[in-house]
Amino acid sequence: MEQQRSSIHGQWSGRLAFILAATGSAVGLGNIWKFPYITGENGGGAFVLVYLLCIALVGLPIMMAEVMLGRRGRQSPINTMMSLAKEEGAHRFWKALGWMGVLAGFLILSYYSVIAGWALSYVSLSLEGAFVSASAEDIGVLFSNLIADPQRLILWHSLFMLMTMVVVARGVRGGLEVAVRYLMPGLGLLLLVMLGYAISSGYFMQGLAFLFDADFSKINSTSILVAMGHAFFTLSLGMGAIMVYGSYLPKGISIAKTSVLVALADTLVALLAGLVIFPLVFANGLEPGAGPGLIFQTLPIAFGQMSGGLFFGSLFFVLLVFAAWSSAISLIEPAVAYLVENRSMKRLTAALICGVATWLVGLATVFSFNIWSDVTLFDKTIFDLLDFVTSNIMLPLGGLMIAIFAVWVMKKESSRQELGLGSVGFSLWYWVTRFVTPVAVLIVFLTSIGLF
Ligand code: PFF
Repeated sequence: MEQQRSSIHGQWSGRLAFILAATGSAVGLGNIWKFPYITGENGGGAFVLVYLLCIALVGLPIMMAEVMLGRRGRQSPINTMMSLAKEEGAHRFWKALGWMGVLAGFLILSYYSVIAGWALSYVSLSLEGAFVSASAEDIGVLFSNLIADPQRLILWHSLFMLMTMVVVARGVRGGLEVAVRYLMPGLGLLLLVMLGYAISSGYFMQGLAFLFDADFSKINSTSILVAMGHAFFTLSLGMGAIMVYGSYLPKGISIAKTSVLVALADTLVALLAGLVIFPLVFANGLEPGAGPGLIFQTLPIAFGQMSGGLFFGSLFFVLLVFAAWSSAISLIEPAVAYLVENRSMKRLTAALICGVATWLVGLATVFSFNIWSDVTLFDKTIFDLLDFVTSNIMLPLGGLMIAIFAVWVMKKESSRQELGLGSVGFSLWYWVTRFVTPVAVLIVFLTSIGLF
């Protein structure tokens, strides 16, 4: 049977490898850089609550659906959708889901790499001792100088793209599995060390209250859209990244259990990052709504003051780079897998083409922080716009289509077989994905454009 084949790109060595790779994809800048700053911009607790609800009711069911489609199709998302549509007697149009994912991946990686570049440059700043005893103001200046300098940003952006291409060219298993196995736990541990520092800052309770006291007057329809968009972004859903990883998943491994583990790990890291950052924000009289620079303006203050800060600071940004790295490769993998399948390209050539194209688009983000900072559309800079359109429109739309395909187009028997859940678990997934998830996504969409 067609779906019994394994992918031409290889397979994960087992359950743990998949969990690590999927967690590597999910845990990244989204958890440590983006979650705290959008939480800060959207007023804290109520936003966090909506985000957690979206993870449980929208993210998790879609993650299971996306992994399932991948494992059944065993190819790049574009070809997977085409062959599954054929198998289920549906229209070829479903292939468009794959194409939209490829486009979303390109656009996200183009700015993701620039921000990962900030983290790279912070490794070097930390090693030079630039944070030692620095005041909040000094760090603010350090950050503004970095983003005002296109050349420095291009340098670090190029280095990060190069790192991404090297791993993608070597194939998903070469190197990646090993890196993720040690680095992810390392990042978790270091966040715990930082948590200790945040607790001792004297402002822990303020941080905790900001993160968990839900004041619904602080959110509006746009914040709800942002919370939902972030649930997709942080779990790497809606663009084929998790689908392509699912296509390398051997048969017989429980999709439900692995998805729950990945979603839990991801959420935990985000909350931990929030618990570390907000006490530091309040302890130093900073603004929670400072925007994308938030962690880059707060954490170095802590590193500059704590003993062993030079070591911990450098290590932290190194681990952040690794977290971003293992996410970046999943952003570009759907496109690379497609080129290898359909154009018979070598992985190296495919990685090179995708990498150079993404690098070029990334320049727009670089300039949006300096020479093009006044180029705006709907009041948003190019970076803000790229982030908004991909996270809040393209990913939820892709996720919605995945949910619809998995439970309205695919035969119930096919998904039952593939998911391998018990009957209660399967029914729960099936009904939530059939009604709750799509309705939730639609309501959020319609509300945000003022139609509901
Ligand atoms: N989940 C990643 C993060 O939180 O940083 C970003 C990401 C990776 C988004 C892969 C989408 C994706 F397909």
